[in-house]
Amino acid sequence: MKGIILAGGSGQRLHPLTCAVNKQLLPVYDKPLIYYPLSVLMLAGIREILVISSPRCLPQFQALLGDGAPLGLGISYAGQERPRGLAEAFLIGRDFIGKGACTLVLGDNIFLGAGAARQLKRAITSNAGATVFAREVSDPENYGIVELDRRGRATSLVEKPAHPRSNWAVTGLYVYDNRVTEIAAGVRPSARGELEITDVNRVYLERGCLDAVRLGQDVTWLDAGTPERLLDAGLLVQEAERREDRKVACLEEIAFRQGFIDLAAVEGRAAALADSAYGQYLTRLVAEAREDAQTSGGRAAA
Ligand code: G1P
Repeated sequence: MKGIILAGGSGQRLHPLTCAVNKQLLPVYDKPLIYYPLSVLMLAGIREILVISSPRCLPQFQALLGDGAPLGLGISYAGQERPRGLAEAFLIGRDFIGKGACTLVLGDNIFLGAGAARQLKRAITSNAGATVFAREVSDPENYGIVELDRRGRATSLVEKPAHPRSNWAVTGLYVYDNRVTEIAAGVRPSARGELEITDVNRVYLERGCLDAVRLGQDVTWLDAGTPERLLDAGLLVQEAERREDRKVACLEEIAFRQGFIDLAAVEGRAAALADSAYGQYLTRLVAEAREDAQTSGGRAAA
């Protein structure tokens, strides 16, 4: 399974914040926004990742994430000349996707809570076409909306409807089989001139192979695309980290726990970031892991 992070867009709803800086590089409390969607892919075990952004912004993402090797990932990059819609990701990413399946996550979507990655993993295993993840919202006119029947099956999909027939928003996390590149190639621009992901999903719905999964109650979902929601996201992350005394979306920690990298790699990163609370958290992580290893080593020897 390959992963695509779509980190493009002009970020107009966040101007002037995004006049000089890409939305996905803005801070959400103590990390750049892109760390959060990337963490969901990593937690689901996805290690081959394509970041798509405007050619102007790609060097900044490269400076931040490099080739992914320090996290045990393979990260590659591709440019989207103009924001022509989310579905263009599958045309830009066609070679990257190759003959396999792929998960797409929007770079401004945050999923807090371990349940999200668990549900994504399950969907990757059971996906028979496309899988979308739905969450009830109070402002459905701002999202792609899915109508669900009494058994929870999707019956219709509409992008930002003026008169929504359901409160279930389609979140920015999607699993697709290999047909997605061919389906996206057949999609025509919408009235607003974009290749809509909702139109791709509707093809799967019409073919009877779209699965709509309701996100569990333990999952907090945020689309950080407006100033209010970006601030909300930062405050939520701060609160979650304070409450748990653990960091959310700490990429080195996830990479280590997933077995993508060893403790020495975490230690190197901790030293490089030592002046920040993030780096000090990594130092603490290394100490805890060493202690755990000693305790279990001692137990084994006894
Ligand atoms: C996009 C999609 C929409 C989806 C939303 C989730 O909208 O077009 O279907 O519900 O992401 O974040 P955007 O936020 O790009 O306007």
